[in-house]
Amino acid sequence: MTFRLVPFLIFLALASAALASTRAAHAQEDAVERGRYLFAAAGCQGCHTAKGGELLAGGRALKTPFGTFYGPNITPDPKHGIGRWSDEDFLRALHEGVSPDGDFYYPAFPYVSFTGMTDEDILAIKAYIFTLPPVAERSRNHDLDFPYNIRVALAPWRWRYFEPGPLKPDPGHDEAWNRGAYLVQAVAHCAECHTPRDSLGGLDKDMAFAGTTDGPEGSIVPNITPNVETGLGDWSAGDFDFFLSLGMMPDGDVVGDVMYEVIQNGTSKLTPADREAIAAYLRALPPILHAIERKKP
Ligand code: HEC
Ligand code: HEC
Repeated sequence: MTFRLVPFLIFLALASAALASTRAAHAQEDAVERGRYLFAAAGCQGCHTAKGGELLAGGRALKTPFGTFYGPNITPDPKHGIGRWSDEDFLRALHEGVSPDGDFYYPAFPYVSFTGMTDEDILAIKAYIFTLPPVAERSRNHDLDFPYNIRVALAPWRWRYFEPGPLKPDPGHDEAWNRGAYLVQAVAHCAECHTPRDSLGGLDKDMAFAGTTDGPEGSIVPNITPNVETGLGDWSAGDFDFFLSLGMMPDGDVVGDVMYEVIQNGTSKLTPADREAIAAYLRALPPILHAIERKKP
């Protein structure tokens, strides 16, 4: 009996080990797929890829009133990218805006928004990035004016403007609104462009999503609150879906500038349910009267 039981137990042990490892492989695949989706929604590619350059190898210039930032290489290259980073390093960068060496990151890296993401979602993005080809290319140094070139000088800025921590669901709203809040505020960081900034570059929360004439790359960013006169008060749910999937405005114009990129690389790749959630959240924002002069076509 024991002689028969032993091989059977061995068989059982092997079978369950095999099963566990396929399960682990499946979980890993799921994480990579989720990561691919969130990576698109979060626009990581745009800032970390130079025009015509290799994916995530860095070099995209981001002009700001404080100087020009260059998105660094975040490919899994061990020397020039983030190939040696642990999960903790990656979480700390996106949640706290702090590097593995303990330096503060500039808020040109939108961690002020990404801090709202869950650990699970951030690590899914890491899992996806680590499936991409490493590129051995040095990150370019930022070109910043004094005193902005001193990272420790960010301490008071962080104290004043940065509220770390994952976004908490609001039980006063339904699931779609909460999903929309998560996508708009944390993942797709729409406020980073659509909310005006004060002279120190902090987001003016009282004017959330009300637009600014000081957008990235000299763009004029419209008011997307549901104010009827100066915002999107007259947009239907269908208008939002058309816009977020195709970049078409209700009047038939195609959106320009950096927003086209947000749609092409980001919102057009989302599920219809996620686009509806974004619209539901935007349509429930407090309407702010704030006229932004339109750019002449
Ligand atoms: C709006 C532009 C922008 C977007 C969008 C953006 N980043 Fe960045 N990121 C930057 C800049 C600029 C820096 C450099 C910050 C610094 O030097 O302080 C940076 C730094 C980083 C770093 C640190 C790299 C290092 O070598 O220390 C990581 C990791 C990173 N980003 C990952 C991501 C991921 C993942 C996403 C998407 C979820 C993302 N970034 C989206 C602009 C961006
Ligand atoms: C990198 C900066 C940036 C980000 C991030 C961004 N936007 Fe925009 N958005 C713009 C600019 C610039 C325009 C104006 C484009 C133009 O003039 O054609 C715009 C236009 C729009 C419009 C058209 C409104 C109108 O009246 O013309 C909507 C709606 C919109 N954005 C929603 C969003 C949503 C939702 C998100 C997040 C998923 C988002 N944007 C993220 C910069 C940005």
